[in-house]
Amino acid sequence: MNQNGSFSDLDAIENEALAAIEAAADAAALDHVRIQVLGKKGSLKQILRNLGGLTAEERPLFGARANVVKEKVQAALEEARGRLGSAPSSSAKNPGADLTLPGKMPERGSRHPVRLVSARMIKIFASLGFEVADGPEVEDEWHNFTGLNIPADHIARDPAENFYLEDDLLMRSQTSTVQVRVMENTPPPLRIIAPGKVFRPDTVDATHSYMFHQLEGLVVDEGVTFGHLKSTLLTFFQQLLQDENMKLRLRPSFFPFTEPSAEVDLFWRGGWMEMGGCGMVDPNVLEAVGIDPEKYTGFAFGLGIERVTMASYNIPDIRYFTENDVRFLSQFS
Ligand code: DAH
Repeated sequence: MNQNGSFSDLDAIENEALAAIEAAADAAALDHVRIQVLGKKGSLKQILRNLGGLTAEERPLFGARANVVKEKVQAALEEARGRLGSAPSSSAKNPGADLTLPGKMPERGSRHPVRLVSARMIKIFASLGFEVADGPEVEDEWHNFTGLNIPADHIARDPAENFYLEDDLLMRSQTSTVQVRVMENTPPPLRIIAPGKVFRPDTVDATHSYMFHQLEGLVVDEGVTFGHLKSTLLTFFQQLLQDENMKLRLRPSFFPFTEPSAEVDLFWRGGWMEMGGCGMVDPNVLEAVGIDPEKYTGFAFGLGIERVTMASYNIPDIRYFTENDVRFLSQFS
């Protein structure tokens, strides 16, 4: 066979293989064809190794055609095995094989710790009456900034602080975008959470990454107070950590979309670690989406899921989550 791959060579491999399968008298003959064509050193593998004579456009077509040949030969082998009444095993050729030896088990995967904790967070908030909402990872400036009372000259909108795709389009830098999307479309009362990915060109260190997950929360109703916000966060962290005595601190802060605002800190490893931000929804935000701030109030929060996962499992460094090291990943269930 000419080893310099051409489409007619592929046709020849297919025709010869199908004819040999047709003519095979027993399982051993079928096995022979299988090894000759589909085996590690078989004609199909060989021809794919030598695509020098093909143009860049032809190569993917050639690969696709080779796949079709492979599938056809496999199907013909399967069909012939049925006809000859034999299973595809090497025991026919090698009757000495010990069939009682344990088989090769595929390795079992495990869920990523961020997924596990995210699911746990959703479950707890669901038990508190929250529904899950969703929004796109590619956002416009209205939902990422303007609708959240973040003025045009705010530092958070700086191109150096964000992954902009086009003028008015960026990878969302916060899940607070979903607050705006939900309020635009649904009248109060509202009680939602929105877990998802966010993106920022931050320098990577033990607690920062260019991509991470947040879980946003939003409640809008008549008579909602800061007390509701605090009790919701306290209940959530007590349930998550299964520890009535864990220490949570709401530290006065500023976010354009809440007033008053606070950072959510958890006592962890002998110090306070920031878990996210929270506050009472700023009346400007309610007005921007057409909700009457004289009638309704609300609270909101955004928690970093990686941070919460670190606190849950005592993981010292956020970089473990994206290194893809099985020794780390297989520890969680
Ligand atoms: N979006 C903020 C951030 O990424 C976190 C945040 C603060 C969310 C206050 C909120 C909030 O919902 O009320 O830094």
